[in-house]
Amino acid sequence: MKFQISIEGGAAFTVAVEEDTLQRGTLRAGMALPHECSVGGCGACRFDLVEGLMDSVWPEAPGLS
Ligand code: FES
Repeated sequence: MKFQISIEGGAAFTVAVEEDTLQRGTLRAGMALPHECSVGGCGACRFDLVEGLMDSVWPEAPGLS
């Protein structure tokens, strides 16, 4: 199963369920979305979800607060 992800401004790519995170999916698609630690500590990867639903693999991550 794959999910279609569209980024405001035109970029779009798919993320397969087995890729397990949005960040990994963007990297596999050759996109460089902002990120630093990749483990939930810094908050550099935060974004506004405009439409749709997603689950967080670590809802209490300090970088998300
Ligand atoms: S890259 Fe640091 S919290 Fe996401």
